[in-house]
Amino acid sequence: MKAIVFNKNGIPEKLVLQEVEKPNPLENEVLVKIRAVSVNAADYRSMQLGMIPKNGIFGSDVAGVVEAVGSQVKSLCVGDEVLGDLSGKGSGGFAEFVTAPESTFVIKPVTVSFEVAAAVPMAAMTALQAIRDKGQVQAGQKVLIYGSGGGVGTFAVQLAKYYVAEVTAVCNTKNVPLTRSLGADHVVDYSEEDILNLDRKFDVIIVVNGNRRLMLYKKVLSAEGRVVMVGGSLSQILKTMIFGPILSMGSKKISLLAAKALTTDLEFIIKLVAEGKIKPVIDRTYPLKETSDAINYLKQGHAQGKVVISVLQSKPFLFT
Ligand SMILES: NC(=O)c1ccc[n+]([C@@H]2O[C@H](COP(=O)([O-])OP(=O)(O)OC[C@H]3O[C@@H](n4cnc5c(N)ncnc54)[C@H](OP(=O)(O)O)[C@@H]3O)[C@@H](O)[C@H]2O)c1
Repeated sequence: MKAIVFNKNGIPEKLVLQEVEKPNPLENEVLVKIRAVSVNAADYRSMQLGMIPKNGIFGSDVAGVVEAVGSQVKSLCVGDEVLGDLSGKGSGGFAEFVTAPESTFVIKPVTVSFEVAAAVPMAAMTALQAIRDKGQVQAGQKVLIYGSGGGVGTFAVQLAKYYVAEVTAVCNTKNVPLTRSLGADHVVDYSEEDILNLDRKFDVIIVVNGNRRLMLYKKVLSAEGRVVMVGGSLSQILKTMIFGPILSMGSKKISLLAAKALTTDLEFIIKLVAEGKIKPVIDRTYPLKETSDAINYLKQGHAQGKVVISVLQSKPFLFT
């Protein structure tokens, strides 16, 4: 099969399209023919940190068709259309096929395309767990989504609206119309306005991206409010780990989210997508051989929604 394999000594290209052995499913695993896979910050962050999957193949958010099942597999059959998050299962999504335990996948609704399904897993589960679990967002609460333009942010705005919050979203000029179209009640263009100058406080602040001081978020938080730190710069995440517990000693709380790949959450979200209640936003779609370009584009930090790799191409693959 063809796969994008990481080669740490690769000059100039570390991610190379190669012919590798097609995997065989173990007894509790399924073999999935991948139709689409999306790119996440976790892909390039893992590369930067030297956390390389065993087979050198990154990519975790896949959608495809079950091609073979292990002898103990009960919930899936050959031909089922599925999606899943392979993070924590060895990744392997930037490829034509992948094997993973059957418990990794949920059934893809027929009305949802493979590309749209692949855009969902990690970003949407992260947004859901930030809003519903860590943020405990309630109807009528004022929620600030700081960094609404990317993969997690576009889901976070829609999910906060789903939970009937009053949503203020912060993004760059380019993303203002998109963020409004996703349902945000107020949109703040961070290149023109500072959240410190807003005349309101927030019950929940979801920090998806950016690099503001933790104390700044606390200043615009209501008395019993919560800040949920999802992402941003590595230094900001480290500071939250170190100073979050100290800054949470009063009634205002600051915590860091460590999202989990849960099939119950994935089923919940893909149902909302199928019902048209949540619309995944796809900025660009690349062919498998251009995975490196797709990752570099995401790495620039200003993708509008998700970046997706379409694995099945009508054009023949070119080996270089
Ligand atoms: N905690 C967890 O478990 C978990 C799980 C998944 C992801 N993450 C983290 O969450 C973050 C977002 O992930 P993602 O997949 O959504 O990434 P992404 O798609 O690359 O997000 C990029 C978006 O962030 C916005 N942004 C960039 N600089 C900003 C700034 N200075 N202020 C406000 N917004 C800014 C950009 O919007 P504009 O163009 O409008 O600036 C862009 O659209 C990453 O840091 C990722 O590592 C954490």
